[in-house]
Amino acid sequence: MNMVHKILKELYHEFRGMDNNGALANYIPELSKVNPQNFGIVLTTVDGYQYSFGDTAIEFTIQSVSKPFVYGMAIQEYGVKKVLEKISVEPSGDAFNSISLYPDSGRPFNPMINAGAITATSLLWQLHKAETFDRILETLGIYAGSSLRIDEAVYNSESATGHRNRAIAYLLRNFNILQTEVEAPLDAYFKQCSINVDCCQLSIMGATLASNGVNPLTGKKALKSKYIPHVLSVMASCGMYDYSGEWIYNVGLPAKSGVGGAVLAVLPGQLSISVYSPLLDAKGNSVFGVELCKRIAERFSLHLYKTPRQIKQVLRRQLTLRTVRSKYKRDEWAEDLLEQFGGDVHLMELQGELCFATCELFMRKISDECNTLILSVRRCITLDDGALNLLVKLGEEFQESGKTMLITDYNHLELFSSLDHKNTGFLRFNTLDDALFHLETTILDSNGYKPKEEPVQLMDQQLLKGLTPWELNELKKHLLYKLYKHDEIIIKKGSSAKNIFFLESGRVIIQDTSDENKDFTLAIINAGNSFGEMALLDKQKRSANVKAQTNVSCFIMLYEILDKMENLATVKVKILTNLGASLSSRLRTANKEIASFT
Ligand code: DON
Repeated sequence: MNMVHKILKELYHEFRGMDNNGALANYIPELSKVNPQNFGIVLTTVDGYQYSFGDTAIEFTIQSVSKPFVYGMAIQEYGVKKVLEKISVEPSGDAFNSISLYPDSGRPFNPMINAGAITATSLLWQLHKAETFDRILETLGIYAGSSLRIDEAVYNSESATGHRNRAIAYLLRNFNILQTEVEAPLDAYFKQCSINVDCCQLSIMGATLASNGVNPLTGKKALKSKYIPHVLSVMASCGMYDYSGEWIYNVGLPAKSGVGGAVLAVLPGQLSISVYSPLLDAKGNSVFGVELCKRIAERFSLHLYKTPRQIKQVLRRQLTLRTVRSKYKRDEWAEDLLEQFGGDVHLMELQGELCFATCELFMRKISDECNTLILSVRRCITLDDGALNLLVKLGEEFQESGKTMLITDYNHLELFSSLDHKNTGFLRFNTLDDALFHLETTILDSNGYKPKEEPVQLMDQQLLKGLTPWELNELKKHLLYKLYKHDEIIIKKGSSAKNIFFLESGRVIIQDTSDENKDFTLAIINAGNSFGEMALLDKQKRSANVKAQTNVSCFIMLYEILDKMENLATVKVKILTNLGASLSSRLRTANKEIASFT
């Protein structure tokens, strides 16, 4: 059941049946030959999923929709400042082929009208000369995720009749905006307008803009992400020429139209819509393109200024080291110390988008009593520059006041990974568990805690508490004693369960594998504790892997001996009672953690 598909299909058919009072572009003679009934629409999401209806495989020339992509190339190669010296970014309020140049400097008003677009292409020509068009073709191909080619007939037709563009180019030359010869860059411009695309390809090009310059299908980078806002903002303010104001007011999406019949609209971070219908209105915009985008934007509430951010939900939970612990099972002495001193170690688990508003919100909730702050960003999906600046400043503030800040689970956030961490005030850890373990050890070390390192005899094993010397002796007769080497697998997930292990010395790690095939730690336990005990109750297969983290020695007991040996009946009761106590204590800890979510 795909409701998006259903709604788009209904809209498509509604338009298909409508009269269209537009006209084919005829100032380029070849364009007046296309079938006026051609009509297709594609919506592409930022994960590359496409909804397509109608004539989505028919090729048409990209025309002015090439302009934002070529402008992106120019600012990436020259830098924004240099390009601004040649092309302004003010909406002209005039038609696409208007001669809207600043009277004193001759600078075109913006890169979406022909004058600005010819200038952008000529800037590329200044660098790449005869290779210019090939570079444009290649770059637009990266946006589209497939190699593109030119429509020779349309190119020849425009080249032969493009007197107005020629006049604009010579005027630009007169003002020294174009600083080279005129015909060759103009030729590259005519060619870029004659690049063939179909509706699907064009939509992917838009989705690449929507996903920060990375093509969602190929993963290839078409434009550095820092230039995307510049490209999208000229599309938003100038992309629909003298209709731009009304367009952004009503539809609210950065967009670009072309006289070939395309309208491409982009919702940053979410999707792109391409419509192909070659009948144009008086302003040179596709009639169906404009109206259909308007309807889709209304129906799905896509207006850019209707922000969907769930700002309030940035703080998933907030707790202290009294409630949350690493997976390392510690002894009673250590637990008491952590209970006593864990209160000023605060953990904030953040989620969603990290931007100004969400950071401002959670930072307001950091208490003055907090001496150590862990920020887990595992469930954050984005981090922008503004948020990064705030986090770096927070780290500096913590460092200057002798406090500690740690950030964990940050690897998926590109901006974090590329940060030079030597110069930040915070520590970083790959996982929350690593950070908790580090802080626990710091607290324990500074409070005189010394872990017991000697082997733990049977009488001191947690599950064998309360056994009489005679019972211990009887039990011992049935136990195996085994040594495992560091890293050796002791229990394999899925294997059948027959034994319980009493850890005499060393440390083991209990791990499961996530859906993404990553190992995650359930617990780390040391001497005096048992593992493999759960199946004693339910006789299920092993639910996790157990691996020796150091060299390990343990006593091993077959479950069945508790039933087989009559003299061990009381032992069985005592073990089960101890196991019950251990499980209820684990359940209490789990409940405390669950309660922190509510
Ligand atoms: O420069 C021209 O006239 C064409 N090659 C492109 C114009 C265009 O697509 C205007 N858009 N609506």
